[in-house]
Amino acid sequence: MNRSIIPLLCSFLFLSASSASAFNVTKILSQYPDYTNFNDLISKTGLASEINAKSTITLLAIPNGAIGDLTSKPNDVVKKILTTHVVLDYYDTMKLQKLKDKTSKLTTMFQESGKASNDQGFLNVTAKDNTFVFGSAVKDAQRDSRLEKSVMNQPYNISILGISQPIVTPGIDSPLSPSSAPSPKANTPKSSPPKAESPAEEEAEAPTKDADSPSADSPAADAQAPSSSSADKLKISFGFFVVLASMVVIFKKDIKTNIMIFQNIERRICLLLK
Ligand SMILES: *[C@@H]1O[C@H](CO)[C@@H](O)[C@H](O)[C@H]1NC(C)=O
Ligand SMILES: *[C@@H]1O[C@H](CO)[C@@H](O)[C@H](O)[C@H]1NC(C)=O
Ligand SMILES: *[C@@H]1O[C@H](CO)[C@@H](O)[C@H](O)[C@H]1NC(C)=O
Repeated sequence: MNRSIIPLLCSFLFLSASSASAFNVTKILSQYPDYTNFNDLISKTGLASEINAKSTITLLAIPNGAIGDLTSKPNDVVKKILTTHVVLDYYDTMKLQKLKDKTSKLTTMFQESGKASNDQGFLNVTAKDNTFVFGSAVKDAQRDSRLEKSVMNQPYNISILGISQPIVTPGIDSPLSPSSAPSPKANTPKSSPPKAESPAEEEAEAPTKDADSPSADSPAADAQAPSSSSADKLKISFGFFVVLASMVVIFKKDIKTNIMIFQNIERRICLLLK
């Protein structure tokens, strides 16, 4: 076989290797009996494999005692809520303590879904009372999910922080699709935010529009660091296709043409890898 295929195959192998999991979140959480419900939920919703596809993640884990009615909500709603507990960056307690101005805006996996409007895809973490408090970055959202402990960390791939209660993102737990949700917002006078009593029904009214440019005010570094798993899959599929196509070409054309084609393909793969 032509020698020039070797770097091509190397590129392909590298593409495959780059998608290998850095950790298995299900396995990690199974070692901590306080988080069995949370672990079941991230498996049931398929979120576990999406988390495993990341290489840098912080999980805000809800202990069994605080899981509340999350276990009885529809699967798609639970998944949306749980994606707001997955921060697309690595934060352990040490890094939190070094936060500039003792506060930060964090990008969550919900932001990646394209379903977040306003600041729904972001969290606000702020130092308070000798610990840290997490909450939705949506204006006037309640922010009282306190950092209780560092469950585990594997720098700088995964950190699991135990929080006191689920993060409540205004408007997120509507089971309605955005198009069928009522949109009475236009001339409603601005009212004070609903208190925590019955957030599920109250907030179901809020329309969740697809935000096309929610990342405009995101912290640049946070928003760009993670590569989405679908992009990875696309890269791998493309790499695979290229190899197949090359195989066909190699037996049909003469050697000189092959070398040119391979060099061209290799350049393209290298461009993709950037
Ligand atoms: C772990 O994180 C480092 C730094 O973020 C990254 O370069 C590396 O690829 C990750 N490990 C795996 C196996 O993904
Ligand atoms: C992750 O760990 C769980 C529990 O140990 C196991 O059932 C599952 O197959 C593992 N997943 C992968 C992708 O290895
Ligand atoms: C987080 O919320 C607090 C309190 O509302 C606010 O003072 C702080 O500026 C917010 N942090 C960021 C990074 O927006």
